[in-house]
Amino acid sequence: MWRLKNILLWNLMAAVIVLGQAWPNTKLASQSSSGLKADCLGNLMRLSMDEALAVGNQLVVEAINGTQCVLLTPTLAAQCGYSMESDPWGNTRIYTSLMGCFVDNKDDATFKIGLKLQMYSQRPSDVVTHEVNQTCSYTRWAPKEILCDRNYMEVSNYLMKANPQTKRPAQDQNVDSYLLEDSGASHGIWKMTFFTPEPVVMVPREAEQAGYSAMTTSNRLIMRSPYNTPETFSEDVAGIPMEVFKVSVYNKAESGLGIVNLAAACPTGGVLFTESVISWYIPRRMTPLMDGTFRIVEMHMGINGQRLDRSQMAARGYTLSTTDFHIVAEIPVGSPDGYYKSHAPEYQYYVTYTVEPMLEVLWRADGTQDDIKYKVLFPITTPLMPRPPHVEDYTVPEDGVFSVMLGGFFHDVELKNITFVTGVLTVEESNARGLIVQEHIYTNGTKGFSLQVSFDADVVLKTNPDPLITTYSLPLTVGLIILPDGTSFAHEVTLQASLQDVVLPALTGTCDQKHFYVRVKYGSQDRNFETAVGMRQLTPDLAKAYKLQENRTHLILRVPYNAQDSNFELVSSVSIQARLDIVLWEPNNQWVLGDLSLACSFPLMTTKCYPNGTITAVAVKLESVPSLVPSQLTLKDRSCRPVFSNDRFAHFSFSADSCGTS
Ligand SMILES: *[C@@H]1O[C@H](CO)[C@@H](O)[C@H](O)[C@H]1NC(C)=O
Ligand SMILES: *[C@@H]1O[C@H](CO)[C@@H](O)[C@H](O)[C@H]1NC(C)=O
Ligand SMILES: *[C@@H]1O[C@H](CO)[C@@H](O)[C@H](O)[C@H]1NC(C)=O
Ligand SMILES: *[C@@H]1O[C@H](CO)[C@@H](O)[C@H](O)[C@H]1NC(C)=O
Ligand SMILES: *[C@@H]1O[C@H](CO)[C@@H](O)[C@H](O)[C@H]1NC(C)=O
Ligand SMILES: *[C@@H]1O[C@H](CO)[C@@H](O)[C@H](O)[C@H]1NC(C)=O
Repeated sequence: MWRLKNILLWNLMAAVIVLGQAWPNTKLASQSSSGLKADCLGNLMRLSMDEALAVGNQLVVEAINGTQCVLLTPTLAAQCGYSMESDPWGNTRIYTSLMGCFVDNKDDATFKIGLKLQMYSQRPSDVVTHEVNQTCSYTRWAPKEILCDRNYMEVSNYLMKANPQTKRPAQDQNVDSYLLEDSGASHGIWKMTFFTPEPVVMVPREAEQAGYSAMTTSNRLIMRSPYNTPETFSEDVAGIPMEVFKVSVYNKAESGLGIVNLAAACPTGGVLFTESVISWYIPRRMTPLMDGTFRIVEMHMGINGQRLDRSQMAARGYTLSTTDFHIVAEIPVGSPDGYYKSHAPEYQYYVTYTVEPMLEVLWRADGTQDDIKYKVLFPITTPLMPRPPHVEDYTVPEDGVFSVMLGGFFHDVELKNITFVTGVLTVEESNARGLIVQEHIYTNGTKGFSLQVSFDADVVLKTNPDPLITTYSLPLTVGLIILPDGTSFAHEVTLQASLQDVVLPALTGTCDQKHFYVRVKYGSQDRNFETAVGMRQLTPDLAKAYKLQENRTHLILRVPYNAQDSNFELVSSVSIQARLDIVLWEPNNQWVLGDLSLACSFPLMTTKCYPNGTITAVAVKLESVPSLVPSQLTLKDRSCRPVFSNDRFAHFSFSADSCGTS
C-alpha cells in the first residue's frame, strides 16, 4: 500500500488551452456539432467535446455575452465560473456555473449559456468554429450553495427580500444576512470584507481587479474566488487540507442595506491511493461553513459532474460512506469512467489513472430548512504506477520458431522498432524480413505485441552447450513510444530455447588393394571439425598427401595402407591386415564428433624366392609388438641384418644357402 499522498491535479484550468502537440493532428473534422454535447447538471452546464472534434492543437473558448464574444482566459474563467478539462487525446469538458458571468439568468430559474469554441491547427486558416447555445433550468436553490470547481470556489446565498411584513424572520439568522439601516447609498454591492482570516476591506472595483467576482441576481448574492489568492486561506478540516474563502458583503437593496456573510471551503487534498482503490475523504462537518448542529440530509456521488444513482454506483464498484469525521468516496482504479495514461520517466513504463468524481452534500441545520448545498468537482490522478511489461514466451523449441508476447501496455503505446543483434528494424521492416510482428488489443483496454522469429533467422544466435544440443538465443530491445506526447522507452528481452537437433558427421570407409578410402558426410554444422588420422592431425600438407577431396557436404581421404598413420594388425605370408583410425573433433570444446576404425587386408608377399637363389623377406612391426625395432631384427644367423629398414619394415635379402635358412 502506498503512503498517503495528497496528489491532486488541479488541472489548472485553461479556458484558453494550448496543448502543444498534445492532440493528434487528425483530419479536419466536419463543422457539424455531432461531437458536442451540452448537459444541464444542477447548478452547472457541461459541454462535452469529443476527441474527434479536436482539430489541431489549440482550443479557444469564448463566452457569448449578448451579441459580443468574450475570450475566456484562464484568469477570467476562474473569476467567472468557467472551467475546462481535457484528456491527452482532446476529449474536453467545459463546465459553466449557472451563476457565472455572461449567463443570461431569468429569475434564477432559467439560464441561457452561449459558448463559442474555436479550434486552431498549425495553419491559421484551419479554424473550426462551433457555437453552442444551451438553456438550463434550475430552481432548487438552497439558501446557501457552495460550488468547488477545479479553478474556483463559488458561494451563493439567498438574498433576503426584506419587505415590511416579513422583516427579519428568526431563521434568517442562519442565512447569514442582516439588514442594516438604509444609508441612502445607490443600489448594489457597496463594499466587502474578506477574512484572511484578518479582515481586508475592498470596494467592488478592487475586488474585481483582484480576480474575485461579486454579483447579485434576482434572489441571490454570489461571490467567486480562484484558489490561493491573498484573500483566501488554507485550513485543515478533520485532517483534510482545504482552501477557505470567507467574505461579508455589504449590499444595498431596495429594502435597505444588508450584510451577507458568505463562506466557501473547498478540498485541496484528502486522497488516499492503494494499487486498486482511490479513497477520497471529505470532512463530514464542514466547520468553516457552519455553526451549530447540521446533519447530512442527502449525499450523492457523481462522475464528470453527473450524479450517479445507487445501481450505477454499484455497477461501477463505487461506494460512498461516512465515518465519524469524514465522507468517503471509493473508486476502483481503472473504472471505465476514468482513463489510463502511459508515462516513461527514466525509460521505464508507468501508468497513471485519472478520474473526476463529484460529491454533492446537503446539510440541514437542526429544526430548520436552512440547507447548505455543497458540490465539489474533484479530478484525481493516481501517482505513477510501475507497470513493467510482461513477457510471455510461447516458444515450442520443436517448432523451430521463437514466439513471444510482450504485453501489459495501455492503448496509448505504440511499437516503433525492434533492435536485433543485426541492427534496428521498424515493424514494417521486420515483417518484410519474415520476422512477424503483430499488435493485439484486448477488451480490457490493454494491448500487447507478438513476435515470431524462426530459429534460422540471421538475428538468432546459436551456441552448443554439448555436442548434440543447440541453444538458440534471440536478444531484442523493443522500442516503444507513447502517444500523443511522443515519449520513448524500451524493453529488453532475451529469448532462449534449446533443441537436441545436432546431426553429427558420419564416417564410412572402404579399401582397395593398396588404400584406405575414408568418406565423411558432414552433419548439421557443416565442416566444424578437425580430423585426426592415426595419431596426427590432418594438416594441409598431410591432406595433400592423402589426396583430400572435399565439397560442401563431404570429404574423402585416400590413405595408402602402409602410410605412417596406419597400424598393422596381422601378417600372413600373402597379406597384411592394416587399420586406419580416424577421429573427428570439435576444436573449441574438444568434443569428439565421430570416429572410424577401418581395418582391411592388403595383399603382401612377405617372402620371395628368385631363380638365381636369392630370397627376399619383409618383416613388419605389428601394433601388438610396440617395442620391436625393425632395424635391429636379424635372421637366425645373427649376422644377417636387414638390407633396408624403417620404423615399421625390415627388408632382408639373402641367398638360399646363407643366413641359416638351409
Ligand atoms: C456583457 O454584456 C453586458 C450587458 O450587455 C455588458 O454590460 C458587459 O460589459 C459585457 N461584458 C463584457 C466582458 O463584455
Ligand atoms: C446562439 O445565440 C446567439 C445569440 O442569441 C445567436 O446569435 C446564435 O445564432 C445562436 N447560435 C446557435 C448555433 O443557435
Ligand atoms: C487485460 O487482458 C489481457 C488478456 O486477457 C491480460 O493478459 C491482462 O492481464 C489484462 N490486463 C489488465 C490490466 O486487466
Ligand atoms: C527506436 O525506438 C525508440 C523508442 O521509441 C527510439 O528512441 C529510437 O530512436 C528508435 N530507433 C530508431 C533507429 O528509429
Ligand atoms: C560431394 O561429394 C560427395 C562424395 O564424393 C558426393 O556424393 C556428393 O554428390 C558431392 N556433392 C556435391 C554437392 O558436389
Ligand atoms: C638374383 O635376382 C634378383 C632379382 O632379379 C636380383 O635382385 C639379385 O641381385 C640377384 N642376385 C644375385 C646374387 O645375382
